[in-house]
Amino acid sequence: MKLSVIGCGYLGAVHAAAMASIGHEVVGIDVDESKIASLSQGEAPFFEPGLPEILSDGIASGRLSFTTDMAQADGAEVHFIGVGTPQQKDGYAADMTYVNAAIDALIPHLRPGDIVAGKSTVPVGTAAGLAERLASTGATLVWNPEFLREGFAVKDTVDPDRLVAGVPLGDEGARAADILREVYHPAVAKGTPFIVTDYATAELVKVAANAFLATKISFINAMAEIAEVTGADVTQLADAIGHDARIGRRFLGAGIGFGGGCLPKDIRAFTARAEELGRGESVGFLREVDAINLRRRERAVQLVVDALHGDMFKKNITVLGAAFKPHSDDIRDSPALDVAVRLRGLGAWVTVTDPEALHNAARVHPQLNYVEDRDEALRGADAVIVVTEWDEYRGGLDPEHAAQLVAGRVIVDGRNCLDAAAWRAAGWTYYGMGRP
Ligand code: UDX
Repeated sequence: MKLSVIGCGYLGAVHAAAMASIGHEVVGIDVDESKIASLSQGEAPFFEPGLPEILSDGIASGRLSFTTDMAQADGAEVHFIGVGTPQQKDGYAADMTYVNAAIDALIPHLRPGDIVAGKSTVPVGTAAGLAERLASTGATLVWNPEFLREGFAVKDTVDPDRLVAGVPLGDEGARAADILREVYHPAVAKGTPFIVTDYATAELVKVAANAFLATKISFINAMAEIAEVTGADVTQLADAIGHDARIGRRFLGAGIGFGGGCLPKDIRAFTARAEELGRGESVGFLREVDAINLRRRERAVQLVVDALHGDMFKKNITVLGAAFKPHSDDIRDSPALDVAVRLRGLGAWVTVTDPEALHNAARVHPQLNYVEDRDEALRGADAVIVVTEWDEYRGGLDPEHAAQLVAGRVIVDGRNCLDAAAWRAAGWTYYGMGRP
């Protein structure tokens, strides 16, 4: 099939390349010329495992191209909208500027029968409004939310755990759902659940999923706070409750909490939208979820301060990690980088290392010292804090080896990812998050 993908950021670039990898002819369209130039050469503008391979294969096959020219969308059967919906600068709601601009630019190129498939995360009610705007073109709007996780984006796009299509009523909706089934043919053929809903439900599925995940993380972090005043161990607690299949162990990792381009802004936008709908109290708990999450960063900073007996002046602190999670170079709302910045604000000399995210971090926070080599970064540290659980900092870092490099054997495990006993045995003072 011939497809267009409008917006070539994280979601759109992966979607375009993944759709070409399953045999479609795809054009990716974005207003950012430098992004289009690098994608056209098969270069991913961000770190995502597996993406460079499918980009260069797609381009070499002739099935995948990128352009800034919206006219190239002409003739595509399905037009995916994958532009960003960031948090507004002066509020909690989602900024819909890019979605509206994409739709306006696309409208002149639509033919009757075309499908416009919205993938961006939007406030519930958006799709109904967009469908009205598209009515005069004869195109059909479907809402097809994306659940990809950074670091696993290619796999999640080609082989998702479920597909959701919000469609209009009647034959028009049934036809649109069938066309989406054709788009995602390999996943549909292997029996991936394909859930057809109305627009509002499809929009809500996405925000509800992210709100649930954020709540799960903040729940365990709230338990970590209780563990801290009772001497309990939150990691054992998570293991024990996680064995209950109704609860499950995933997303019960206590630590410095969630960040990234999705969970924080999505729960805030959801709260703002619920208030507009007169149902603010229904998701009032998400404010608490946000507050617990932000408190954990403060707690990690406090652990370092306490470990250094309150004296941060001229202290060397090495921060292991900058990305909001491993397997990503994304630093948007990164708890890791936030902790580093706060430590620096207290007067310490902060050195940050990360396998992928240093370039992005240095652009936004030039006041920190960045060192690529992990061991070099550890040299002379008075305290070390792990804030992104990359393999090279968890199992990959030998506490005996690290002890030879530092000035003081103090380690704060902001992700509860280290073997506390092994670090203590090597002479380190170990502090976890919600662990004795
Ligand atoms: C998330 C959703 O998982 C995905 O389905 C949606 O499409 C986009 O938002 P992503 O932002 O890539 O994906 O990251 P995710 O893996 O969900 O992690 C989010 C944050 O939560 C990270 O900062 C991570 O470190 C943190 N986290 C995750 C925890 O603190 N504890 C956990 O147990 C799990």
